[in-house]
Amino acid sequence: MKNVLSVSGINKTYQSGFVALHDITLDIHSGEIFALLGPNGAGKTTLINTICGIVKASKGVVTVLGSDNVDEYRLARSEIGLVPQELFTDSFETVWNTVSFSRGLFGKPRNPLYIEKILKQLSLWDKRNNKIITLSGGMKRRVMIAKALSHEPKILFLDEPTAGVDVSLRRDMWELVRGLQKTGVTIILTTHYIEEAEEMADRIGVIRSGKLILVEPKADLMQQLGKKQLTLQLHEPLLQLPPALILNGVSLSVDGLTITYNYDSHGEQIGIAKILEILAAENINFKDLHTSQSSLEDIFVSLVNDQELIA
Ligand SMILES: Nc1ncnc2c1ncn2[C@@H]1O[C@H](COP(=O)(O)OP(=O)(O)O)[C@@H](O)[C@H]1O
Ligand SMILES: [Mg+2]
Repeated sequence: MKNVLSVSGINKTYQSGFVALHDITLDIHSGEIFALLGPNGAGKTTLINTICGIVKASKGVVTVLGSDNVDEYRLARSEIGLVPQELFTDSFETVWNTVSFSRGLFGKPRNPLYIEKILKQLSLWDKRNNKIITLSGGMKRRVMIAKALSHEPKILFLDEPTAGVDVSLRRDMWELVRGLQKTGVTIILTTHYIEEAEEMADRIGVIRSGKLILVEPKADLMQQLGKKQLTLQLHEPLLQLPPALILNGVSLSVDGLTITYNYDSHGEQIGIAKILEILAAENINFKDLHTSQSSLEDIFVSLVNDQELIA
């Protein structure tokens, strides 16, 4: 698979001495939607801004389609469109002028046909002569996307594209981003909404406290979604599991009163029926039984917590 972006050993220490990024290494594949998922303050914006050359890395290298983002900044930057988290859109300029001007900033020759195409694609064509200040929040956000696309970049960064956006507008945004992907643009978005990553991404990277703790295809993460758990509350505490129950995924709580069985709905499994059969044969009585299924949210939370223990 071709990579369009390579991030290698990036560290960022802010002037305050705060270490916002620890040794981030990541490749982005051509044509994918990559979601960088993490809680507030994890370092998502810092990472995106570092890649885009707005924040200077303390260490490490970023290469955008073969161009170093420091030594060949203009070349690298010309391949990138950035829709920042904070929108600066209280402009008295018209939509058309704003987007055309943005293209000019990248030294690209005028191309009214291209601007028309993106305004139509973003459902802004009817608003092209309106002043930005008169537009709704959702339209302003689309103007920012049009601006970011004005110089025909191959990679588009969307920093929290739906933060504070209501649910139906969020769906519109997802639709729009998928449409952009179809035009061949590689998309990297940040989000703290698990649902957004789940809905949109081909691959998901989880960032926490400046560390990239996981990068996986979404399909693989969804596989983990199939993880299930059976919990049995026992009448009498056990000192240890009987040998027949010393099986993969079966464990006993410290107080001896709870047996849990973790199993994967996709993979091989012993089966709940088998476990219950063994319990009956061993004369172990339980007073309560329940099963639960983990969501991507649980996986995310447990990853984040694990990391807390290590940090
Ligand atoms: N200019 C700065 N100086 C010092 N610390 C900063 C600066 N910008 C961001 N930070 C800190 O870096 C961490 C990551 O911030 P940010 O990248 O904005 O996270 P996210 O986008 O994931 O919410 C936060 O703890 C934030 O307070
Ligand atoms: Mg941010």
